[in-house]
Amino acid sequence: MRCHLLSKTVLFVNVFCLLCCCVFSSVSGEALFSEKSILLEIKSSFPDLHGVLSSWSSKSSDHYCSWLGVSCDSKSRVVSLRITGIDGKGGNFQALSCSETLKLQFPFNGFGVWRTSSRSSGNLAGKLSPWVGKLTELRVLSLPYNELNGEIPKVVWGLEKLEVLDLEGNLLTGKLPNRFSGLRKLRVLNIGFNRIGGEVPFSLSRCMNLEVLHLAGNEVSGTIPGFFGSFPKLRGLYLSQNRLNGSIPSKFGHNCRNLEQLDVSGNSLVGRIPGSLGNCGQLQTLLLFSNMLDGVIPRELGQIQRLEVLDVSRNSLSGSIPSELGQCVNLSVLVLSTRFNPLTSHQNTNEDSSVERSSGQEDDYNYYEGSIPEEITTLPNLKIVWAPRATLEGKLPSNWGGCENLEMVNLAQNLFSGEVVGVFERCKKLHYLNLAQIS
Ligand SMILES: *[C@@H]1O[C@H](CO)[C@@H](O)[C@H](O)[C@H]1NC(C)=O
Ligand SMILES: *[C@@H]1O[C@H](CO)[C@@H](O)[C@H](O)[C@H]1NC(C)=O
Repeated sequence: MRCHLLSKTVLFVNVFCLLCCCVFSSVSGEALFSEKSILLEIKSSFPDLHGVLSSWSSKSSDHYCSWLGVSCDSKSRVVSLRITGIDGKGGNFQALSCSETLKLQFPFNGFGVWRTSSRSSGNLAGKLSPWVGKLTELRVLSLPYNELNGEIPKVVWGLEKLEVLDLEGNLLTGKLPNRFSGLRKLRVLNIGFNRIGGEVPFSLSRCMNLEVLHLAGNEVSGTIPGFFGSFPKLRGLYLSQNRLNGSIPSKFGHNCRNLEQLDVSGNSLVGRIPGSLGNCGQLQTLLLFSNMLDGVIPRELGQIQRLEVLDVSRNSLSGSIPSELGQCVNLSVLVLSTRFNPLTSHQNTNEDSSVERSSGQEDDYNYYEGSIPEEITTLPNLKIVWAPRATLEGKLPSNWGGCENLEMVNLAQNLFSGEVVGVFERCKKLHYLNLAQIS
């Protein structure tokens, strides 16, 4: 079952239109260090065995504003440093050129941002130099999928003009700062898939322009702060695969009107799914799986008209499946339970794998009541319904509407009764159907 890796979500984030990265003028003589010498200092902290930064040279006849990955403003101040390492998909390093600076692409995989074990074998290794803090006009610092290690230099958290900080998929360690002074203009904070711990600092609440906050795949601990619900422009919040505990704050739903993606899967969250999430009217993906959430699936989720993917598997949920979910006309993937643990079995497509059993992974503890309401099974865009061994009972859902898009249905090991014959006959795209009884 590759349910968690199926669709590719590509999020485009418009980046502030850089004035013009191609205008060269003389080095501003006033600064204590020239931007050129700062860049050379930054280079010196990278071993650069692959020669990625070979154009960064004091002997180079090229102006430093045309060095790989460097963009400047009209005063030859560096406004953007952008070098992307190999992304594990066979791509090569790249530095986006002038024409590409208008759009920043985040290659998020799957429903959320799950990464498989194919780690980056990036180009830039070593430590990010604190000299980067001297590039005071910097608006974009984007070095994803490299092999940067050590801590993010403290000075980065003080950069006043930074709008995009993207260090996804490196080997960075250390903790989130207790507090920081800069970053008031930050729109994208992406330090996903590193080894960064610590708790989310309260200072982050001042970054009111945040559009994307991606901390997934780290060692972030503590609770999800209530202020995450007060970023008016936030579109993507990715917190999966961390060590977050406590509950999902109900405050969260108070100001989430632009939120499109919410992924808190793979943490240790407890308590109920707040009904206030129903206020997040733009939400397309809601991933709550692999936590310890209890209570019912709130009927308020039916207010999220745009919802396409809902995964609440591997929690301790109970109660009936709310028929209100039938109001989510675009609902395409509904995962109520799964035996497959996406945290440990990325490579394994067999959901009942012996690997999973022998690794002693706990099972799914969602035990619902009743059946899956017809309002849901007749949804026109439904593609995947996954609910094995979830104590569902009653008559096997027999009305699947036109089921034009239905591809996979797993209702195995529930307590359904009734006829199967003819039920799925019309579903031309259906290629996986599991209705096996409890053995
Ligand atoms: C949450 O985790 C922190 C450490 O990361 C711990 O100090 C705290 O007691 C935990 N809280 C709960 C409710 O488990
Ligand atoms: C459902 O999806 C279609 C196609 O992407 C889109 O045009 C439509 O606005 C969506 N409906 C809702 C209620 O979001």
